[in-house]
Amino acid sequence: MKKVYIALFMCVACARTDNDAGHKVEKPNVGLSQNSPIVLNHPLIAHYLSIIRNKNTKADEFREYLKRISNILILEATKNLPTVAVNIETPLKKTTCQCIDPSKRIFIVSILRAGLGITSVAEDMIPGAVIQHIGMYRDEKTHKPVRYYNRLPTTFTNPSVIRVLICDPMLATGGSASEAIKLYLEKGIKEENIIFVCVIGAPEGVKKLLEAFPKIKIIMASLDEKLNEKAFIIPGLGDAGDRFFNTMTPD
Ligand code: PRP
Repeated sequence: MKKVYIALFMCVACARTDNDAGHKVEKPNVGLSQNSPIVLNHPLIAHYLSIIRNKNTKADEFREYLKRISNILILEATKNLPTVAVNIETPLKKTTCQCIDPSKRIFIVSILRAGLGITSVAEDMIPGAVIQHIGMYRDEKTHKPVRYYNRLPTTFTNPSVIRVLICDPMLATGGSASEAIKLYLEKGIKEENIIFVCVIGAPEGVKKLLEAFPKIKIIMASLDEKLNEKAFIIPGLGDAGDRFFNTMTPD
């Protein structure tokens, strides 16, 4: 089993490119011919990651820095949102500005619990977004996702114009993310309009997602080394939900 992980890690060769916003992104090859995740390569992200990965970082600081990383991730995830021209008047003259196109609806989806850390930032940044929640936890023995909350409407009006940002800081086996993505595809959302936003991910999870849904986009702060035998991300940061909500030790 160890050999498989090492082999996977070895094939994560990175190509670096400038994106439209001018900062560097990495597009590592996770062994797939066509698609790759977008890994933000930014000194501030590196610094913030060093804080949230540290086991001695307390919950208050963990929350703060996870949100700072989320800000940068959401900027990247929203850079191609369509805009429309609006005429306004500054104190000095009439001018035309660009606003987010209100006819193209944006869903921000939190995979509970840990996804709330990213979505709390996304909600503040994206005007007019619809906020949705999917409750899921990963069974400790099987590592499969168990869904416990889903209040999505049975149908969406005009799903082909809806863009969906699914947020969860951790992409480990990819089981939880896959379940969430399927819920939206079943309702007619286009695969190419789905972006999965995470803080850290394992090559195994990335590969699983992009094999199943080759048209989605994955945006992440770090592509980590591997999963361990308990399917935890290595080096990772532990359990993001427990660290964010300060539930590491039972009361
Ligand atoms: C974690 C994490 C993801 C999932 C990732 O949630 O936040 O939702 O596990 O694992 P996967 O890619 O193998 O599915 P967890 O089960 O710890 O629930 P929590 O957010 O409520 O803590």
